[in-house]
Amino acid sequence: MSEQVFIFDTTLRDGEQSPGNTMNTQEKLRVARQLELLGVDIIEAGFPIASEGDFEAVRQIAMSVKNCQIAGLARANNEDIDRAWEAIKVAKMPRIHTFISTSDIHLKHQFKKTRDEVLKIAVASVKRAKKYTGNVEFSAMDATRSDWNYLCKMVAETINAGATTVNIPDTVGYAVPHEFGDLIRYIKENVPNIDKAVISVHCHNDLGLAVANSIAAIHNGARQVECTVNGIGERAGNASLEEIAMILRTRKANFTADTRIVSEKIYPTSRLITAITGVPVQPNKAIVGANAFAHESGIHQDGLLKSKLTYEIMTPESVGIAKSSLVLGKHSGRHAFRDRIENLGYILDDKELNLAFKRFKALSDMKKNVYDEDIEMIIVGEIYKIPETYKLVYLNVSCGNTTIPTATVKLEVEGNIVQDVGTGDGPVDATYKIIKKLAKTTSKLEKFSVNSITQDMDAQGEVFVKVSEKGFKAIGKGADTDIIVASAKAYINALNRLEYMKNKMSEGK
Ligand code: KIV
Ligand code: ZN
Repeated sequence: MSEQVFIFDTTLRDGEQSPGNTMNTQEKLRVARQLELLGVDIIEAGFPIASEGDFEAVRQIAMSVKNCQIAGLARANNEDIDRAWEAIKVAKMPRIHTFISTSDIHLKHQFKKTRDEVLKIAVASVKRAKKYTGNVEFSAMDATRSDWNYLCKMVAETINAGATTVNIPDTVGYAVPHEFGDLIRYIKENVPNIDKAVISVHCHNDLGLAVANSIAAIHNGARQVECTVNGIGERAGNASLEEIAMILRTRKANFTADTRIVSEKIYPTSRLITAITGVPVQPNKAIVGANAFAHESGIHQDGLLKSKLTYEIMTPESVGIAKSSLVLGKHSGRHAFRDRIENLGYILDDKELNLAFKRFKALSDMKKNVYDEDIEMIIVGEIYKIPETYKLVYLNVSCGNTTIPTATVKLEVEGNIVQDVGTGDGPVDATYKIIKKLAKTTSKLEKFSVNSITQDMDAQGEVFVKVSEKGFKAIGKGADTDIIVASAKAYINALNRLEYMKNKMSEGK
């Protein structure tokens, strides 16, 4: 029987802290419940000391998720550890994850401490965490640029102090697979008490090697991998959960270990993250990209028609991509709608379901076929909303080849109705100028892109925008059968996200 590789998902911590991926507490709870369905073993729910908002999100996840361990991150000091414990103590299976750097580069330039001093701090921190729970993880930050013997000493002493998982992060994405595999083997062979702890790895993707390094580590004895859905995370991201899970599943014969991941939940989870954050997945991304199972070449298509085995190493169904995404229409009932939502991996309560169904009915009056992508936009756009500082109340645009594009916009801004009219170079420009004026925002519009969600003539248009202000960047998206309305929704969504981020930052994150 194969051994288990524990999946430590850090989408809500390392992923969420990266630009554009900020989520509110409700959104984090939704993601956590989905990660539970996906079968991850440990959810790193956040960094409780970072802000009140982080603390509260971790606490709520700890209260509501029962089938995963819930980890809270803490630097190696008493205050962080105590705060992390406060947030996770209600969990059925809590874990404190504490960390400090071990590389001379970090010790000299960031911590200004000697190796011995850092060793003492790490041991004391693990002991402190151990007073609260038997489930303690220690991470040696920047492990891959650390002296191997010092790293082994650190690992041995933190295990002696009570760490049950020892994590070897490639914090700056510097390692290459054969070297990283050697490091894991070296630790296994040179840390005398290594059998008392699980070896974990945490790889960043700066050189595009996060997944390859994680796999090399598993091959050499690591039994926990830290990863994120869609590979989101600091800078170039973290190792992608879906890629690691499908490598171990698809190439089983090469490994003595596998994960508990329910592969059919991979795609719905990926879509949920994209939908909540508004950060799109690159089309050619392995496993979950739009083109991951699209065969364009004639030779490939010919082969596939003869046998799937010719060019398909795994089926789209095995990662939860439905065979046909044509789903519902005007005559579809509530029951069919609920079934489809559940198949897509969303969990809605009765109130949310009623609201979504109402919106679906309105949409199916406007377009003949309602596809999965349309339903996702309803859920994310209408149900999973971030707090709305700005709401679109009314929009009227006149344009054409003989008319100066003119927009009339009515917004609700923090409960007050404001309205104005103005012109622009085109209908979107006119609309955006008025929204900007009414919202009194000094933000800059950095990106604007339009796609059609599905293929037909009555398809909804999906608009992505990116705005920035004083170092903050936010992405917004909106969908509607009317492209100008979709554009207005996307802009307003981005402005709301920007406000949300600014408020979160002023809470102290
Ligand atoms: O990249 C890193 O080293 C981290 C640690 C906190 C594990 O995120
Ligand atoms: Zn990291």
